Amino acid sequence: MTTASPRSIRLDALAYGGDYNPDQWPEEVWLEDARLMVEAGVNIVTLPVFSWPLLEPREGEYDFAGLDRVIDLLWSHGIRIDLATATATPPAWLIREHPEVLPHNVDGVRLEFGSRQSYCPSSPVFRDAALRLTRTLAERYGEHPALALWHVSNEYGDHVSRCWCPVSAVHFRRWLGARYGSIDALNAAWGTSCWGQHYLDFEQIEPPRTATGPINPAQQLDFERFSSDALLELFQSEIDVLREVTPEIAVTTNFMSLFRELDYWDFADAEDLVTDDAYPDPADPNAHVGAALNYGLMRSLKDGRPWLLLEQAPSAVSWRDVNVPKAPGQMRLGSMQALAHGSDGVMFFQWRQAKFGPEKFHSAMLGHRGEDSRSFQETKALGAELKKLAAIKDTRVRASVALVADWDSWWGLSAPDSLPSLRLNWLTEARAWHAAAFALGQPVDVSRAGGPYGSHSVLLVPNLYAVTVEQADALAAFVAGGGQLVVGPFSGVVDHSEQVHDGGAPGPLRDLLGVEVDEWWPLADGEKRSVTLGAALVAATHDVRVWSEWLVVADGTEVLASFADGDLAGRAAVTRRSHGSGAAWYLGAGLDDDGMRAVLARVFADAGLSVPSPDAASTTLEVVTRTDGTTDFTFLLNHGRESVSVPGIADGTDLLSGGDAADGITLDGFGVAVVAHPVSALSPSSSPSLPSASDSEAAL
Ligand code: GLA
Repeated sequence: MTTASPRSIRLDALAYGGDYNPDQWPEEVWLEDARLMVEAGVNIVTLPVFSWPLLEPREGEYDFAGLDRVIDLLWSHGIRIDLATATATPPAWLIREHPEVLPHNVDGVRLEFGSRQSYCPSSPVFRDAALRLTRTLAERYGEHPALALWHVSNEYGDHVSRCWCPVSAVHFRRWLGARYGSIDALNAAWGTSCWGQHYLDFEQIEPPRTATGPINPAQQLDFERFSSDALLELFQSEIDVLREVTPEIAVTTNFMSLFRELDYWDFADAEDLVTDDAYPDPADPNAHVGAALNYGLMRSLKDGRPWLLLEQAPSAVSWRDVNVPKAPGQMRLGSMQALAHGSDGVMFFQWRQAKFGPEKFHSAMLGHRGEDSRSFQETKALGAELKKLAAIKDTRVRASVALVADWDSWWGLSAPDSLPSLRLNWLTEARAWHAAAFALGQPVDVSRAGGPYGSHSVLLVPNLYAVTVEQADALAAFVAGGGQLVVGPFSGVVDHSEQVHDGGAPGPLRDLLGVEVDEWWPLADGEKRSVTLGAALVAATHDVRVWSEWLVVADGTEVLASFADGDLAGRAAVTRRSHGSGAAWYLGAGLDDDGMRAVLARVFADAGLSVPSPDAASTTLEVVTRTDGTTDFTFLLNHGRESVSVPGIADGTDLLSGGDAADGITLDGFGVAVVAHPVSALSPSSSPSLPSASDSEAAL
């Protein structure tokens, strides 16, 4: 199975390296850096992300001497470059000459220069200047043999993802004009007959700044879409220049995991390689569960193709209230987890720990103590281990389950003041559903609401507040094809203009799910409600989280759980409607963790997946398999501090230890094994079952 994209990173090994900021160091340090990078196995670094003011000290005056020398030095050591277009932070001269480049916040206040990313995404002045620099860099370095990848800007939307300035207002109106064609169409879509919002002309429309009261949710939703598109346009404009000058070089921009502000489906379509910056909090014992979902998104954004972990912290970050370091073994484990989930390399922020600036307390591959620092020792050890995993490059992750991520629903569900409850949060729900699947041993891919759904046999839809008829039809086709679909509460409520579907929720999903929602019954803060699961699940009573609904169930729809108490007592809470060999499940309540696991255990079993019983589920040991179609690479990741014994895998060899895996493996706390074995040793369509946390000898 080969997965190379038409334009791939120019590197024939797993990527290993990090952000490098040579501008912050005298030149004599560069030589030492290059030497230590080689010692650590580094084969690629990212630079010069924030160097615009040095590369172009005055408008149109360039100075590439330092960058030339550092790139040549690194290349003479065999190190390649993920070359940033350096447009993430405009220089002071640009801001002082053109203050209109600065973004405005929702209150119309201008955000001043003094940090980074101080630009309005819609500013033509900023865009022209950024494109000039991009073109100049591309023309200068496009032929350099060290150039492996273009790194456009940096973390779009970090710090500034929305701008409410007058320049953005003009762009917003233009965007609305293109979307609606006429002001009458906009008035109809936005429902401006409510609260006297009627517009005569696009010129009368402003971005939704702080107003007297709740803002029209349709206007708000369009502003979210526009803001994501405005940054995408900027990204695309740099890509266009790069493709024109260096058509052979792959392009990326680094994502920020599951990030509400930008619709990453669209961003991924524009680029060649998906890259992600991942900063799971070492203080959170379940951070690895959330990380698995983020990585599931990254590999899914390009249909399962390998992606690249472009930044992670070797140990502590510097931007949380309390920045806890990673325990010994935790950085290695987190790196292996990203590899397990399809990353073709491991990179960090940053190479050498800063001496000054806001990130001087952020860990780096080479800590303040230099070669003796714990982080450098761990960096070196990981670099050596990656070489043993060369065979996983270009392989793909096996997953039978996908979770639907839909930015329109995410944005709609975060309208600040016009929902039945502000406690229903899209990301919280997605994480809770994913956590249940994780505990049941299923790696989870991520899907667009309207498909394609690939070969997945289970589709999890924690929430699809906004749904179109086309998306509903695609979901129905998935079920008709034998899939198990599970839909969460407050789905199918509005169309893509924030208008409630005729007849109410779940709108175009009504026939598929076989339920109607009469009313939403969100829980008041502190209110308790419970649900009793029936015998078809694991009979037990569970707490309801956040949300419940008054459901009306159609004939032919099974009720698998009912509310146990309060005004909804006896009414349906979980339903299932069969369609041939497929089924559409509906959850009319937020279930607690155990309840969620009980439901998904049955769903997975119905899909023919091998799962442990819900009470044997565990989030400690994670098993993920990458495959090239002939050889499977099964990653066994122990996220706990206690050792775990895992039974043997026939004909398996642990690539890390070199040991035979046929007779079982003992993983230390935070331990990892990567077992290469013929595909036939384990079922290709499912992950191995997990031993329970207490049962260290359970069979795979
Ligand atoms: C982000 C940025 C980096 C750096 C790190 C610190 O990922 O891209 O420049 O600031 O955060 O964690």
